[in-house]
Parts: sequence; C-alpha cells; structure tokens
Amino acid sequence: MSEAQNIQWFPGHMTKTRRKIEAQMGLIDAVAEIVDARIPVSSRNPDLAGILSGKPLIILFNKCDMADPVVTADWIRYYESKNIKVLPVDCKSGKGLQQFEPSVKELLKDKIARNAEKGMAGKPLRLMIVGIPNVGKSSFINRLTKGAKAKVENRPGVTRGNQWFSIGKQLELLDTPGILWPKFDDKTIGEHLAFTGAVNDRVVDVEWLAMRLAELLAAEYPEALSNRYGALDFSVDSYELLCEIGKKRGMMIRGGEVNTERAANMLLEEFRSGKLGRITLERIPDHA
Ligand code: G4P
Repeated sequence: MSEAQNIQWFPGHMTKTRRKIEAQMGLIDAVAEIVDARIPVSSRNPDLAGILSGKPLIILFNKCDMADPVVTADWIRYYESKNIKVLPVDCKSGKGLQQFEPSVKELLKDKIARNAEKGMAGKPLRLMIVGIPNVGKSSFINRLTKGAKAKVENRPGVTRGNQWFSIGKQLELLDTPGILWPKFDDKTIGEHLAFTGAVNDRVVDVEWLAMRLAELLAAEYPEALSNRYGALDFSVDSYELLCEIGKKRGMMIRGGEVNTERAANMLLEEFRSGKLGRITLERIPDHA
C-alpha cells in the first residue's frame, strides 16, 4: 500500500497544495494528469480545470493492463471528441510510455512553432505530473526518469529545490508530482476509490464494500465472477452473492455459515490484483 493512501485532506492542506501547484504553473508548458483507467471519473481531481490556469493538459490513463480495453477505447474517443488528448499507459510494463514524448509534442505544437519563430527551436518543453494518490504518479516518473540525470534549477527567482529530468530529446519533467484530492464528498466516487484500494479500507466496512463491488460486477461483468468462482446465481441480493462466493471457496464457519469477512477481503484483493480480469467500473455517460 502506498504511503499516499494515508493522506488526509483538510481544507488548509488542500489550499496549501493548490497554491504550491499554482506557483509552479509559471515554470511549465503543460500538465499531465494521471488517472486510474479502471475508474477514470473517480480518479480525477474535481478542481484541476481551475488550477491549470490555461495550461494544455494531457490525461494519462494508467493501469491500462487492469482496465477493460474496450471501455478504455470508448473513453479515448470520448475525450478526443472534446479535443482532449488521452494516452493509455501501463507503468508496470512500460507499455504506451514511448508515445508520451510524441503526444506532448503534438499537444504543444503551437508553442513549438512559436519558439522556432523566436529563434528558440528545440527549447525544452517542461511538464508537471499531477493526480490523486495511488494512480501511479511515482511509478510513471520513475519509469521515465530511469537513468536520467536530474538538473538542479538555479535560475534566479525560481523556487529553489525544483529538479528537472530530461525525457527524450526535448522534454523536461518536474521530479515531484502534484498530489491532488479526489471528489471525496460523492458517495459513489468514494466507493469506487475504495474498491481499487485508492483509499484506505480500514476506514470503511469491508463486508459492505465487497457487497457493493459484487453487485456492480454482477451487473457489468458477471462472467468475470463466474469464471473465477464458478456458476453463481445473480438473481440473489448482494449479501447472498457474497455468501455464495465465500461458499465456493469453502470459507465456512461453524454452523454452516459463511465467513463473510474473509470472503469480502478475498473478493476485494482479487479485484485489486487483477485476478478477476480486466475491468473498468466507469463508462462514458449515456448522454455523451
Ligand atoms: P502514486 O505515486 O500516484 O501514489 O502511485 P504509485 O506510483 O505509488 O503506484 C500505486 C500502486 O499502483 C503501486 O502498487 C504501483 O506498483 C501500482 N501501479 C502503478 N502503475 C501501474 C500500472 O500501470 N499497472 C499496474 N497493474 N499497477 C500499477 P503498490 O501495490 O502500492 O506497490 P507495489 O505493487 O509496486 O509494491
């Protein structure tokens, strides 16, 4: 479990973070927001548009290896129709990362042309990574900067301590990501973040969470459940379904009852580690 999962967001902390990121906006040419491709809505920051102050944005759909490829393709088309660049990536294997530099150059082609007109062709393009905890910001930065040497920023007037890594021929990446908050006052978003383990499940009821996940999977990915646990009756309520799953795994306690806590932990763990297959919990809105 990543350290960032234990972050507690308070209004003062959020304001401080936001100010810090806004102060760095002056140093960069574009922002790359990392989201979790399994929950592309819930893993976005609700206030990013206001924080960007007009800087171009590229959205990285990370953890694509665990997301449903058909739904990821739908999301890419959806954002394309809104003129927003989305790049599917997988920081575990590195898949998709070679497209990062060309995609950023495409995003910043006007800026590149302006630089060339001013006699500054090849001027580094600077980027900052932002995202909510656990989406893979550090994994992304580590992968791209493997072997790259950090350049310490010592221009006068620039916040001290900023380090930049050269990526490819022309990109420079700020070494520390901007950690943003999710929209945590929305119940469904909170649930989806908890399903993926992005929020600490010590603060939620594990059985209730697993029942909600079982319900969602029964509706959207019934075959993922039956492939893993055997034939299941999907007409029962979510508690019964969790019991059935537990029974299939022999998780019984004395008296013939199912140990639902064990079953719940197992279902959540198997979903989070991808054992249920490639699943995306959020689809593009119907009216889109
Ligand atoms: P953060 O900086 O945004 O908080 O996220 P971080 O990079 O720490 O990644 C959070 C977890 O997600 C890590 O797992 C990491 O390995 C995993 N992860 C990141 N990118 C991908 C990806 O593209 N695919 C998959 N399948 N997993 C990814 P962890 O369980 O916290 O640690 P560990 O398994 O690396 O030890």
